[in-house]
Amino acid sequence: MKKPVVDYDACTGCATCVEMCPEVFEMGDDEKAFVKAEDKCDTCDCEEAADTCPSEAITFEEG
Ligand code: F3S
Repeated sequence: MKKPVVDYDACTGCATCVEMCPEVFEMGDDEKAFVKAEDKCDTCDCEEAADTCPSEAITFEEG
């Protein structure tokens, strides 16, 4: 299964991924997104969030 990963340094905290996929992404206290539930995307394996992130901070790991 592909797992989404947020690159902490690349994330600018725009929160687009959280708006798109609140099941999967959440904003941390440091105003960076993190993956709270990597297997909760039922539709696109988070491809849309990865494509939409303006900083290209969302990548994938096989796992
Ligand atoms: Fe950060 Fe990109 Fe989400 S900048 S808040 S990982 S859309």
